[in-house]
Amino acid sequence: MPDERGLVRPNWGQAWHGRSARADNGGMAGRHAVSILACALATLAGWCLLAVAHGGNESVDAEGHHWWQHAVFYEIYPRSFADSNNDGIGDLNGINARLDYLHWLGVDAIWLTPMFPSPQVDFGYDVSDYQNVNPEYGTLADMDRLIAEAKKRNIRIILDFVMNHTSDKHPWFIESSSSRTNPKRDWYVWKDSAKQNQPPNNWVSIFGGPAWKFDPRTNQWYYHYFYPEQPDLNWRNPAVERAMFDVTRWWYRRGVSGFRLDAVDTLFEDPDLRDNPVMDNEKNAYGDPKEKDVYNTKLPGIHDVLQQLRRVADQSKAVLIGETWTRDITELKSYYGAHGNELHMPMDLMFTTVNKLSAVEFRRQIAAVDGAGGWPVYVLSNHDIRRVYDRYGDGKNNDQIAKLMAALYLTLRGTPILYYGEEIGMENRDPRRREDVKDPIGKLGWPNEKGRDGERTPMQWDAGANAGFSKAAPWIPVGPRFAKYNVAVEQKDPGSILNFYQRLLGLRHKDPALVEGKYMPLNENDAHVLTYLRSYKGRNLLVLLNMSAAAETVNLDLASKGVHAQRALPMLVSSSNSKAIGATQFGLGPFGVYIAELR
Ligand code: GLC
Ligand code: CA
Repeated sequence: MPDERGLVRPNWGQAWHGRSARADNGGMAGRHAVSILACALATLAGWCLLAVAHGGNESVDAEGHHWWQHAVFYEIYPRSFADSNNDGIGDLNGINARLDYLHWLGVDAIWLTPMFPSPQVDFGYDVSDYQNVNPEYGTLADMDRLIAEAKKRNIRIILDFVMNHTSDKHPWFIESSSSRTNPKRDWYVWKDSAKQNQPPNNWVSIFGGPAWKFDPRTNQWYYHYFYPEQPDLNWRNPAVERAMFDVTRWWYRRGVSGFRLDAVDTLFEDPDLRDNPVMDNEKNAYGDPKEKDVYNTKLPGIHDVLQQLRRVADQSKAVLIGETWTRDITELKSYYGAHGNELHMPMDLMFTTVNKLSAVEFRRQIAAVDGAGGWPVYVLSNHDIRRVYDRYGDGKNNDQIAKLMAALYLTLRGTPILYYGEEIGMENRDPRRREDVKDPIGKLGWPNEKGRDGERTPMQWDAGANAGFSKAAPWIPVGPRFAKYNVAVEQKDPGSILNFYQRLLGLRHKDPALVEGKYMPLNENDAHVLTYLRSYKGRNLLVLLNMSAAAETVNLDLASKGVHAQRALPMLVSSSNSKAIGATQFGLGPFGVYIAELR
């Protein structure tokens, strides 16, 4: 459903708007002669740079691409991945014990959603200490071990940086709220009542209710874009900037390879705190008036903060990924920075808003992002967005569709971010009753908004009790049909979604055309089959994705692109219903995938 700012967000209404700037892919060609030579020599044998780059030395390939441009990222929700001490809550040692699985799958980097100490109101997105580990998840020593063990497998660890707000239990906020004269008072956004007992302005929280909470002790209101337990930091205060930048330095020194920046668009508020425009008579899922977030999102200061954060990251060769909800490509481009000096990897979350299997719509979105001048970052689902199996499944061909979607985001030019469990075809398990809901927005918005529990269920490891996640009852119930959709069962089945993912990632790692190759759309008028080439150094890899429930025949229109082919050598095919009829003619089964090299 389109929300008030014109963006379609799959599960919960949140969107952003922004400024435009020229994007730059930050290409480094010509600067690293030695590694380029090494890479050129090693290309024959596969990738050259992963082993070189992992120590933190900057290393690029022959195209000037960095490690993160070759990597497949895997998002882990620590609470739900693997429970090592059987208390029903996932933890770092649980993740550690599954690194071999991730290595087998072909994962190069893990993005851990917040594992810091937290009252867990927003399940970790309310941080009470940025320099420690939530005791439920383990200790700093466990974290160090996880980083080291991952590194042995050439897997990097990326943390989630919750920049906009802290928990209301963070010592900074406790101090800030203790008196109007406390030195940390100005670390948060405090304001007097507008009129008698009225909040300073009309802003509503994206999580429901007013965005201001009254503090009777100091007789002022504090601002919170998200839950009241998540007071917004005041990024106009240089002391806040310094403290937060230091947090990233501290983690870089411990060996993390970068951050995913949470809710970046919300860092600044209008200095005059002007009222947001209200949309007449429209209410959101929480019954609040719908507003345009003009004065509390996407304020210009964000770009300055991102540039500074980037400078800190560059000193440690770390990568910055952004949670960038944008309305259009111009907005997305602005996050790369005018000189490629902001985010390395702003996520194209508009991609997640293509909510039906439409070759036409995906083709349009891919062309826009691919042509934007930056390095594309593709995501299909995450801990805030319903799973692929639910969003695109038709109830009949769901497994084929899961493979189709995998082949889509894992064969495009850009970096894919895979949400845990997608590789085994996990589906949402939404709470059935309000009293079962864990995510507070689901309680408040019930039944219009059931919250995000459904996409956060325990990873399904085997067909045993609790899907092998824990010996104890998990903090949230396991998903439906885990007996069939789990790692152990699927590893044994050559036709499973998991084995398809594993082969796809294998192909990505060994075929340079899939990482370096230019994206070249073919048959652009085809409404059912999405067809493209990935071309690199004269080699053409063909990807055919049938987005319809009917069998389709495709006649490639290569001539218009100046490409010739005598033969098609199949590399990965999702079902026996899809086959080459000739070098340029293919038959595809319903939702079939055909990946081949054209010779
Ligand atoms: C981001 C996170 C989401 C969280 C919110 C507040 O959107 O992805 O899970 O609730 O920020 O931190
Ligand atoms: Ca545990």
